[in-house]
Amino acid sequence: LSVPYPHNEPVLSYAPGSPERSKIKDALAELKSKQVEVPLIIGGKEVRTGDLAKIACPHDHSVTLGQYHKAGPKETQMAIDAAMAAKPAWEALRWEERAAIFLKAAELLAGPYRFLINAATMLNISKTPYQAEIDSACELIDFLRFNVYFAQQVYADQPLHSPPPIWNYVQHRPLEGFVFAIAPFNFTAIAGNLPTSPAIMGNTVVWKPASSAVYAPYYFMKLLQEAGLPDGVINFIPGSGANVGDTCLNSPDFAGIHFTGSTGVFQGMWKQIGSNIADNLYKSYPRIVGETGGKDFIFAHSSADVAPLATAIVRGAFEYQGQKCSAASRAYIPESLWEPVMAELTAQCSRIKMGDVTDFSTFFNAVIDRNAFKSITAYIDYAKESADAEIVIGGNYDDSKGFFIEPTVIVTTDPHFKTMEEEIFGPVITLYCYADADLDAALELCDTTSPYSLTGAVFAQDRVAVSKVMKKLENASGNFYINDKPTGAVVGQQPFGGARASGTNDKAGSKQNLMRWVSVRAIKENF
Ligand code: NAD
Ligand code: ALA
Repeated sequence: LSVPYPHNEPVLSYAPGSPERSKIKDALAELKSKQVEVPLIIGGKEVRTGDLAKIACPHDHSVTLGQYHKAGPKETQMAIDAAMAAKPAWEALRWEERAAIFLKAAELLAGPYRFLINAATMLNISKTPYQAEIDSACELIDFLRFNVYFAQQVYADQPLHSPPPIWNYVQHRPLEGFVFAIAPFNFTAIAGNLPTSPAIMGNTVVWKPASSAVYAPYYFMKLLQEAGLPDGVINFIPGSGANVGDTCLNSPDFAGIHFTGSTGVFQGMWKQIGSNIADNLYKSYPRIVGETGGKDFIFAHSSADVAPLATAIVRGAFEYQGQKCSAASRAYIPESLWEPVMAELTAQCSRIKMGDVTDFSTFFNAVIDRNAFKSITAYIDYAKESADAEIVIGGNYDDSKGFFIEPTVIVTTDPHFKTMEEEIFGPVITLYCYADADLDAALELCDTTSPYSLTGAVFAQDRVAVSKVMKKLENASGNFYINDKPTGAVVGQQPFGGARASGTNDKAGSKQNLMRWVSVRAIKENF
């Protein structure tokens, strides 16, 4: 194989006095000093619709970063047409030629664009420098490099047997139509991976970033152009989900969807696609790839070490304000560990510093927007008013300067309490105490309480107990962690994705995901 196995991009520390600390400060200052006007990019050209929305800063209402133009149905159709026009030349390139563009993009991101894109992520979606670094730098660079490596494996795969004089081989063709890539707000890396993985496999793409997170994806789009991406291969069109979504899904050229976001939106799109299939709208059954919501668990066994368990709860539940699909949001603690775990949790939470992302000592920040603030605080208020639950840590919130909600720990006596079952997508975790003798019943609850199956973790020192928990919870998560927090999957190390209501489990950053973007033709030669 000509592309060697990639290494994960090292995480920079941003320690005081480090070169990266001063570079990110410069990038933040530069972005804050100007107002950008983000256009659509269709067929390589900037398009302005005049229908403008604000690029906000969730932790500071007084800061506006600029505005972006929103696509309507007309511009969405232009993007589809541009993708279809770019398709013949793009798929005619050798895969190595396409790969070169994405490897170049990884180099640009690791080098000159790293601090700009990290700063855009910090300001627009309120990530700390560390959370931005592991997302928009390291994970996105890893997606690009590993996907090129995995693409090489896909193209190398051939049938094993050709009895002479027969010659059997397969062609991995791109899909017949365009791919629609739809991104969530919470990871610049995911936003960047959604259009690039189908494009590496020769597809052309219409890419819609989330309305609250257009800023960093825009700079990434410009980086792709600088890396040599031909016009029309990826068409960047921010806009309302319904507007852009309807036009794409109702197009006869639609060939597949690469989605990450909430379960409800995904199910709605799947229904619409199903109904269009019934009407014979499409040439082929579209590829439907979706990574969706989670209600991720930490299950503690009585043999668990308390300090690392508490740290995993704090980091798993509260890093990036709990706005990771993988965030721990329910935990099962045995009675025998309850008191020491609560004491350690309280001590660790008291040290959490909340504040501006540009203050390098903060761990915790604002949630994304007013809708999220309202929805998360409604869950907190519900717990405050319920007889079955108590808020033992946090529970306060304040949207006067930014959308700040304290890291909040709820304790419930009802294992089916609303906050044990529903995805909250904010800094809230609910704990349930089980009797040590009721381990089996607690595992049954953990398995069946929510419809999701994204991430989960067990904490135990007893290897037999680990094995029992793993077996009982084998369908309860797509990513399972033993003595570690359930967040922070690394490309090339833990392929990421879930089942049940959490998605199609096509594992972002894997050969399996890339296989979804090709249509295989098997050829038998008898010449
Ligand atoms: P969301 O579902 O609100 O939005 C996701 C995207 O879908 C956005 O771009 C939105 O504009 C678009 N959209 C909305 N309605 C649409 C429609 N009718 N047609 C087409 N597109 C439409 O999700 P969000 O708030 O951006 O992100 C949070 C959600 O994403 C959480 O549920 C989280 O668990 C999930 N998520 C999952 C993963 C994973 O890998 N499983 C990763 C990140 C986020
Ligand atoms: N890859 C991200 C995580 O594991 C979603 O936290």
